[in-house]
Amino acid sequence: MEFSIKSGKAEKQRSDCVVVGVYESAKLSASAAGIDQASQGFISSVLKRGDMDGKVGATLLLQSVPGTESDRVLLVGLGKESGLAEKDYRKAVVASAKALLKTGARDVANFLAEVKVGKQDAAWKASQMAEAVRDSVYRFDAMKGKKEQKEDKSGLMKLEIHLAEQDDNQATQQALKEALALAVGVSFTKDLGNLPPNVCTPTYLAEQAQDMAKTYGLTVQVLEREEMQKLGMGSFLGVAQGSVQPPKLIVLQHNKGKKDQKPVVLVGKGITFDTGGISLKPGAEMDEMKYDMCGAASVLGTFKAIAEMGLPLNVVGIIPACENMPDGNAIRPGDVLTSMSGQTIEVLNTDAEGRLILCDALTYAERFEPSAVVDIATLTGACVIALGHHASGLFSNQDHLAKELLSAGEQCLDRAWHMPLWDDYQPQLDSNFADMANIGGRAAGSITAACFLSRFTKKYDWAHLDIAGTAWKSGKEKGATGRPVPLLTQFLKNRAAKA
Ligand code: BES
Ligand code: MN
Ligand code: ZN
Repeated sequence: MEFSIKSGKAEKQRSDCVVVGVYESAKLSASAAGIDQASQGFISSVLKRGDMDGKVGATLLLQSVPGTESDRVLLVGLGKESGLAEKDYRKAVVASAKALLKTGARDVANFLAEVKVGKQDAAWKASQMAEAVRDSVYRFDAMKGKKEQKEDKSGLMKLEIHLAEQDDNQATQQALKEALALAVGVSFTKDLGNLPPNVCTPTYLAEQAQDMAKTYGLTVQVLEREEMQKLGMGSFLGVAQGSVQPPKLIVLQHNKGKKDQKPVVLVGKGITFDTGGISLKPGAEMDEMKYDMCGAASVLGTFKAIAEMGLPLNVVGIIPACENMPDGNAIRPGDVLTSMSGQTIEVLNTDAEGRLILCDALTYAERFEPSAVVDIATLTGACVIALGHHASGLFSNQDHLAKELLSAGEQCLDRAWHMPLWDDYQPQLDSNFADMANIGGRAAGSITAACFLSRFTKKYDWAHLDIAGTAWKSGKEKGATGRPVPLLTQFLKNRAAKA
């Protein structure tokens, strides 16, 4: 799809469809009013009939509106005229894209970015539009038969984002470029998440990282089992030992900052399938545990986005990737593993495997002398119970780092919520037989999981994002969301701007 920024009058556009906003109580946006005038009150009279209430996200498609040069005009509801909140703007844009996909329109002039949205500028409105539209037209048909792939091609080809004339400048052009780079990263993350677990194995993830390194000139290293044994990664390798798929520790480096700049390290959980192991999960919806590598996928997607942008920052990505399978050789409840940090872990539940692979990757991160480490993991079902599907759970040993991540999430509408990491919860991990247990009981499950990780991150500023509720959708719209790639990319952009 092709995106561009334009300015001009809605009624003068020669396109398959012009998109304009209307408010509740039949009040028109500037461009809707322009079309209304050119068509001698066509829009007003349609609204008077009551077919469109102007509520946020409502749409109405009009054909062959007199006085205009386009085949169609799509009206999109913007709610109360007093001003549109950020997430309502996004909702309206998504609604316009979904409505357009049902038409034959291929090139579109969208005027929604002309309206006032909170305190946001034109650059923000243009980038949100580009990203939201890319998000809405995303399809995953890599695994469909050849015939269906052909028929499935989405119609939207060209989108002109119309801004006021003074806003068609370098800043908005640059913002659009960055939004498109982000969209490439988000869609890569979705693809990796949506791929079946028999394709998207640890080896496949490693190959993707290697391909990316070649394309963008990044440094990549893939550690095999023997090297990890030498490093003493007994916890990670414990999880991996029940699978015939060889584990991989993927290390990617984007070195576009100053030479002496300490890197930000991103660590992503890469369980390419989580059966629970010997503590086997129930059968219902177990297919969704292919998404247990979405932390890893979000690290790779973020790398793609910042590589596309050429972001001037040093960033390291570390991905422990393996499967969690039940097997004659698998770890048992009661086993004690020795982590790379030297701390021993009693495995009371083999389904709490994410923390077991992350802890060794977090210890490995020390060697990069990071300015901050952020891990991203579909870690606990308890986080879904706590926050649902709207916010990622955020834990940190540094309040300033938590604030940085929270505000990055607010900026790009990919939000997280700050959870406590108080010492009060730590005793839940006490073990009679090792330095700690790998589970902390039913109470506060997402917090005790974070407490477990905190024991391996004492040497640097660290934050943990539990994305179990945000990384994918279940049900009819089942699929990866690409979150939290927008949050992570925004966080890194903010850091680069400060450096
Ligand atoms: N990958 C799961 C977490 C998960 C569960 C994510 C459901 C999304 C939806 C993780 O490895 C896991 O199984 N966690 C256990 C921990 C428990 C055994 C302490 C859980 O959440 O049930
Ligand atoms: Mn598990
Ligand atoms: Zn898991």
